[in-house]
Amino acid sequence: MSIPLAELSNIHRVFRQGQVEVHALRGVDLRIDHGEFVSIMGPSGSGKSTLLNIIGCLDRPTSGRYLLEGRDVVSMNDSRLADLRNRFIGFVFQMFHLLPKLTAVQNVELPLIYRGWPAADRRRRAVEVLQAVGLGERLHHRPTQMSGGEQQRVAIARALAGRPSLILADEPTGNLDSRNSEEIMNLFVRLNREQGITIVQVTHEPDMAQMGKRIVYMRDGCVVGEERLS
Ligand SMILES: Nc1ncnc2c1ncn2[C@@H]1O[C@H](COP(=O)(O)OP(=O)(O)OP(=O)(O)O)[C@@H](O)[C@H]1O
Ligand SMILES: [Mg+2]
Repeated sequence: MSIPLAELSNIHRVFRQGQVEVHALRGVDLRIDHGEFVSIMGPSGSGKSTLLNIIGCLDRPTSGRYLLEGRDVVSMNDSRLADLRNRFIGFVFQMFHLLPKLTAVQNVELPLIYRGWPAADRRRRAVEVLQAVGLGERLHHRPTQMSGGEQQRVAIARALAGRPSLILADEPTGNLDSRNSEEIMNLFVRLNREQGITIVQVTHEPDMAQMGKRIVYMRDGCVVGEERLS
C-alpha cells in the first residue's frame, strides 16, 4: 500500500483570545490518498477552514499527528514547513486574492518568482497554465477587467503554476454565480482526472460537493461522517 498524501490523527486546534478558548478541532482523524477529490461540508463554525489551513501547513495543530507524504509536519520548523508548502500545495480562496495592479500572467508568475525561477521559464509556465484554464485570451488583463469566474480561474492557474500535488480550495465558488461555479468545478474535475492532482475543497453547496469522489462531513470540530461517490 502506498503512503497517503496526508494522514491526520487526533488533531486538536484550540484558539486562545484573552480569557476565551475556542476548541475549533476536537480530535480529527482524516486520511487523504493521492488522486482523491474530497469535499468537506458542515455548518458555519464547524472547523472546516481550520482543518484546511492545517492540511495546507498554513497553521499548526495544538496537538495531534500530521504526516504529509510521510513527513511529520508538526515537529518541522517554519522554514522547512514553508518550503514543503511551496513545493506540494496550491491554494484557492473564496475571495481570489489576486494582486489588483498585476495582469493575469504577472499574478500567476508571482509564486514562481519567490521560488527563484528564471524569467523566461516562469513566463512560459504562466502562459501555459493560463491557457490550460481557458484564459489564453486574457493574459494581460488585470483583475478588475475580468469576471469573477475568470478571476477565480487566474487564481487556480496561480495555484497550478508550481506543479503542486495537492490543491486546497476554501469555498472556491462562494462568490460565483451558478454558471461560473459549474465551470470552476468542471475545471477541478478535469485537473483531478487528467493530471492526477489531489483536490480538497470546502463547500456549502451539495451540487458542488457531488462533483468530487468523497464527501467528509464536519460538526463541532469533529468529522461526523463521510460518503464515497462513484
Ligand atoms: N484565528 C482564530 N482565532 C480565534 N478563533 C478562531 C480563529 N479561527 C477560527 N476560529 C474559531 O474556530 C471555529 C471554527 O472556525 P472555522 O473558520 O474553521 O469554521 P468554518 O467551518 O470554516 O466556518 P464557515 O463555514 O463559516 O467558514 C469558530 O468558532 C471560529 O470562530
Ligand atoms: Mg470557513
